[in-house]
Amino acid sequence: MSTESHIKAVTTHVLAAMKLRGEKISMLTAYDYSMAKILDRAGIDVILVGDSASNVMAGHKTTLPITLDQMIYHAQSVVRGVERALVVVDLPFGTYQGNSKEALHSAIRIMKETGAQAIKMEGGEEILESVQRILSAGIPVMGHLGLTPQSINKFGTYVVRARDEQEAKKLIEDAKKLEEVGCFSIILEKIPAQLAKVVTENAKIPIIGIGAGKYVDGQVLVLHDMLGITTEFSPRFLRRYHNLFLEITAAVQNYINDVKRQDFPNENEQY
Ligand code: KIV
Repeated sequence: MSTESHIKAVTTHVLAAMKLRGEKISMLTAYDYSMAKILDRAGIDVILVGDSASNVMAGHKTTLPITLDQMIYHAQSVVRGVERALVVVDLPFGTYQGNSKEALHSAIRIMKETGAQAIKMEGGEEILESVQRILSAGIPVMGHLGLTPQSINKFGTYVVRARDEQEAKKLIEDAKKLEEVGCFSIILEKIPAQLAKVVTENAKIPIIGIGAGKYVDGQVLVLHDMLGITTEFSPRFLRRYHNLFLEITAAVQNYINDVKRQDFPNENEQY
């Protein structure tokens, strides 16, 4: 009997082929083994170990506080649960903007210590040197343009980006540059659908959207948002597929009641 796995892993080349044949790419975030395993077995194409872990796992207001060591811990946990999906890990704030040498060092740590297949970085022209240096080490890079949460203190708000002509033009140019230097994909966050359409039609690499409309090559959402674990975050682009906050609350309340009225454990639930 063969013990070989027959699961065909998703690679950056598989994603490129999906774009070519017009098959949409599905992507969600995950930060731990158990959730990553569920997503992977459900057939998700890409799992992003996002620095949104800073918000939904650690309770910070922004993505800025999460450290490289913490991202590595989350990524190691996710990779252990995944057989098929491509795992992409965010380079956290402050680990690549300073200089390209530091950026490469951060990316190498993620690849060496987690077993993930790619990293993601926020920004265009201003981080191009770091992107190139990481790519030259053979590490696949996913770009991230539009609303880039690591720059929230520059933007001041989480409103839709690139509505004006100047910012839209820069975004189109940044996307071109990221593709030219060799990024395998780009995420566009919270920008007008028509702008995302232009970028997608002009790019040979897959463009994944979050709040960027339907003309892109794939979609990504933060897992805790789409499952309804988070409740306070309700942007227009977010479709909630569940209300886990309510479901978990009800389950926990049932458990509390059962313990209080000495219904749990019963005769069959003890030794
Ligand atoms: O960190 C994250 O979850 C992300 C997504 C919003 C794309 O970057």
